Amino acid sequence: MNVDETRILELRQQLDEHNYRYYVLDEPSIPDAEYDRLFRELKALEEANPNLITPDSPTQRVGGTALSAFATVRHEVPMLSLGNAFEEQDLLDFDRRVREGLEDEAVQYSCEPKLDGLAVSLLYQDGQLVRGATRGDGSTGEDISVNVRTIRNVPLKLKGKGWPATLEVRGEVYMSKAGFERLNAAQAEVGGKTFANPRNAAAGSLRQLDSKITASRPLEFCCYGIGQVSEDVSDTHIGNLEQLRSWGLPISRELKVAANVQGCLDYYRDIGERRQGLAYEIDGVVFKVNRIAGQRELGFRAREPRWAIAHKFPASEELTQVLGVDFQVGRTGAVTPVARLQPVKVAGVTVANATLHNMDEVARLGVMIGDTVIIRRAGDVIPQVMQVVTDRRPENATAVEVPSHCPVCGSEVERTQLIKRSKGKQTISEGAVYRCVGRLACAAQLKQAIIHFVSRRAMDVDGLGDKIVEQLVESGLVKSPADLYTLAQEQVLALEGFAEVSSRNLINAIDASRQPTLARFVFALGIPDVGEETAKVLARTLGSLKRIQVAQPLLLTYLPDIGNEVAYEIGHFFEEAHNRTVIEQLLARGVTPQGEGEVHAEFAASTTFDGLIAKLEIPYVGPGAAQKLSEKFASIEQLVQADWLDLRQALPERAAESVRAYFSDQGRREQALAAERQLRDFGMHWASVRREASSDLPLAGQTWVLTGTLESLTRDQAKEQLEALGAKVAGSVSAKTHTLVAGPGAGSKLAKAQQLGVAVLDEAALQALLAGHSR
Ligand code: IVH
Repeated sequence: MNVDETRILELRQQLDEHNYRYYVLDEPSIPDAEYDRLFRELKALEEANPNLITPDSPTQRVGGTALSAFATVRHEVPMLSLGNAFEEQDLLDFDRRVREGLEDEAVQYSCEPKLDGLAVSLLYQDGQLVRGATRGDGSTGEDISVNVRTIRNVPLKLKGKGWPATLEVRGEVYMSKAGFERLNAAQAEVGGKTFANPRNAAAGSLRQLDSKITASRPLEFCCYGIGQVSEDVSDTHIGNLEQLRSWGLPISRELKVAANVQGCLDYYRDIGERRQGLAYEIDGVVFKVNRIAGQRELGFRAREPRWAIAHKFPASEELTQVLGVDFQVGRTGAVTPVARLQPVKVAGVTVANATLHNMDEVARLGVMIGDTVIIRRAGDVIPQVMQVVTDRRPENATAVEVPSHCPVCGSEVERTQLIKRSKGKQTISEGAVYRCVGRLACAAQLKQAIIHFVSRRAMDVDGLGDKIVEQLVESGLVKSPADLYTLAQEQVLALEGFAEVSSRNLINAIDASRQPTLARFVFALGIPDVGEETAKVLARTLGSLKRIQVAQPLLLTYLPDIGNEVAYEIGHFFEEAHNRTVIEQLLARGVTPQGEGEVHAEFAASTTFDGLIAKLEIPYVGPGAAQKLSEKFASIEQLVQADWLDLRQALPERAAESVRAYFSDQGRREQALAAERQLRDFGMHWASVRREASSDLPLAGQTWVLTGTLESLTRDQAKEQLEALGAKVAGSVSAKTHTLVAGPGAGSKLAKAQQLGVAVLDEAALQALLAGHSR
């Protein structure tokens, strides 16, 4: 056996295996682009060694074998595949071959999108749908008649008249992007299987032995040709499709006729630019010789027609190797693993690294250094590591290990802890995140902390960009956010790139930021896990910086959307000495949070005594028992001192026992007393009976979403004004959305709102509403 022969056998075996996974199991293990490459390599080797071609080579047949559970269907006219063009030159070569074959100077082509679904044959006898079949291996497929009949846009009988007695139409069954999202969301909700992409979802839905499941899936059909037929329909391909449409069959809305290959290239470019906006996924376009006589003349070549070609878009998944894993230090000290990759082009962009998010993700992927991985880049989304190709793992692959010391400052790296409180006990488990303990002594964290501090949604210091922050930190002028407010113009002037005017502007901008809202100030501090929304909740409910600083974690968990972990992070942040110092310095240097006031009335009213008891999570003391205790006792103080008889009057023995045991622990006793004291200090109402929270703000309880562009005000301004009226402003539309404000350029959110029947306002209507509520 020569080298070529060995490789040919190897490639065939691999392609067969991949075909089986792709076509039969719907579980592709490599990206299409990689499959195509193996296929082209095999084809090239076979072309160089024609004596080695065998009838069972993947180049000589289409797809895999049919699933045995469905009845088998023979295709009278084989269902073929298409050759691929990846580069412009491939298409020009195809066109040259066509023109030479037809001895014609300019050949007209039909242009169609290449839908990413699965090929299906529909047989109509006397206008009635009698059979639906999958492609299978091209000559035999599966009988899926019952399933295709459930697809909404497949006509069960043809419209009009004049159709051939026997008419087999061919096309693609696929799932729209919106349908796919909806299906996955619904599946996730019931804990069912979710799909990796619309193609897999369509295949998995159509190949259901239970057609009721198929019926519940958002499948669609689109015709792209004719198979077996008792009499010719039209003398052009486009004519055929238009005739099919007149009989009620769905065809693409993107069909075009190109006068020559240049027209094809224009079509490819145009649709490539509009691709993201299409309702369905396409992986390229298909060009076919438009004249049917021309098609017949050219005929077929083994696997594919000589008269058609698929011009594929650049792949958005690629294989590459993990050269190493670096650890980056973020603003909160989180040490994040980033895969350093053998640079690879994915959808036209060179990708050299990809975030691995955290060590849980590293474990989930099972990735090791040296591994071959699948990288995906979808649209503008940052590249992601999708999967490890484990059978390509080299012998010397090494595990990914978190460094024990920070790569930037050398401080220790600690694993974060997850705190769970249940039945009065705290259990601490290991978190996925590792953190450098260096805080502001770590240059990486200091830079990031300051970039965050001055950012638009935080202190909003105009013109203080990342580069300048770097200069300020590296020159040693700024060692904490508070140092910004003691900067002198001469110091800035001494930095590279600054002149008289620019240095004065910077100082002025810093000065102008001295009066942030309380929420912005809290957000700017960069407390781990405290984003803009949580900062707003803290400011709105507690009303003052002092209260936020001293609030006990237990009390913080009363606040909407604050759980034990976030409460712990907040408490921990304000306990740390250097954080306290920075805050003191900021205040001393003239930074004054605005709009401080009382504890929010609604919040005060919602903090009940029975609620506090329930929060202690004493074993056997649920909400009911807590309610009973709150009726009998007026305070934690009393509860702690209660004698056995009093407790037994309120509770069954086991629960009473449990309360006594709980308060016999000094630490718990003190924590409960401190929480009670703080609730009183903060002026909470001390209602024993839970009251329904209500608000007199006009939009209280409503969730609004903004989309598209607004002209008279920025999105942030609109958001602020809506929030001032009590609305919550969310980023995405769901069934819970009350109103969508849609400006020009609104896209998928508007479509989703319309689909869900959510109210939609334009900018003028929003203005009218805001004006109506301004006093
Ligand atoms: S024509 C003989 N047209 O692509 C021509 N195929 O790679 C056979 N496909 O099996 C196919 N959109 O599943 C054709 N407009 C289109 C298509 C299309 C998607 C799929 C189809 C086919 C595969 C070939």
